[in-house]
Amino acid sequence: MKYHDPVLLDQAIEGLNITADGTYVDVTFGGGGHSKEILKRLKTGRLIAFDKDADAVENSITQDQFQLVTQDFKEMGNWLEENDIGPIDGVLADLGISSHQIDSPDRGFSIRYNSDLDMRMDTREGLSAMDVINGFPENELARIFAEYGELRGSYKMARLIIAARKINKIEKVDDLKSTIKSITPKAGENKFLAKVFQALRIAVNDELSALRQLLQTSGEVMKSGARLVIISYHSLEDRLVKRYVERGGFDSEMVKDIYGNPQLIFKSINKKPIMADAEEVARNRRARSAKMRIAEKI
Ligand SMILES: C[S@@+](CC[C@H](N)C(=O)[O-])C[C@H]1O[C@@H](n2cnc3c(N)ncnc32)[C@H](O)[C@@H]1O
Repeated sequence: MKYHDPVLLDQAIEGLNITADGTYVDVTFGGGGHSKEILKRLKTGRLIAFDKDADAVENSITQDQFQLVTQDFKEMGNWLEENDIGPIDGVLADLGISSHQIDSPDRGFSIRYNSDLDMRMDTREGLSAMDVINGFPENELARIFAEYGELRGSYKMARLIIAARKINKIEKVDDLKSTIKSITPKAGENKFLAKVFQALRIAVNDELSALRQLLQTSGEVMKSGARLVIISYHSLEDRLVKRYVERGGFDSEMVKDIYGNPQLIFKSINKKPIMADAEEVARNRRARSAKMRIAEKI
């Protein structure tokens, strides 16, 4: 089975505005679809890629200009500093999970397979979805479902989980599905469950704090004029990217200096997010929710 089909490939490469001698970072290597296209455009330049899923190593590219780092992209700043690399000419992030991860029957990302509730991108460390479901207090579970899944009835769901786990540990995908069956709508069952799973996945992998860290670090390691290209797959991510680019921070207010001048780090290249066209969506369903933002370091 194909590891992953890259989304918005041409648009992302164009957005990066690659120079042949530049240093680029692809922070979400996955199947390497975007990385391969970046490498084609480099002569003396180099590409560093990150992926915290050890499975991605099977796609690594043997080329002098390329290096794959199997760490969280939260570590990008430290890693570049330790290796004395920078400033950077462009950063690409194609967020979320790969087709390989969702299609793997034993990783717990999909509602289709009755596997252990794992959902970790990096299976070497951290809490699994099973740990979260069986260990987190009611209010924290409810917050995860409400905030990350944008689900109504989040407290009811949390209470059902707490009651069920007192009797038996919730270990498998089907255990979770049956625990919340009474509040799962008959019409739109898959959509509802997909949101529950999305919420858990975001919590397990601490995805939003990784993105915040990435945005801040990118501002620090990139050259003036360098491009940041981010493809996101849900509104929580897209909102963070939009805010950071347009306001210089994550609050609703624009960051300003003491004289009231905006303190922006990036300027947006596309005011509206770029989305896949009908032809790409027909070929690759994953592309349907993709939103790409391009920003330039000021
Ligand atoms: C959508 S896929 C990227 C696909 C890739 N662009 C391609 O063309 O094949 C996202 C990848 O990023 C990785 N990933 C997500 N969050 C990460 C993080 N915080 N640190 C490192 N890797 C991460 C996932 O493991 C996954 O392999």
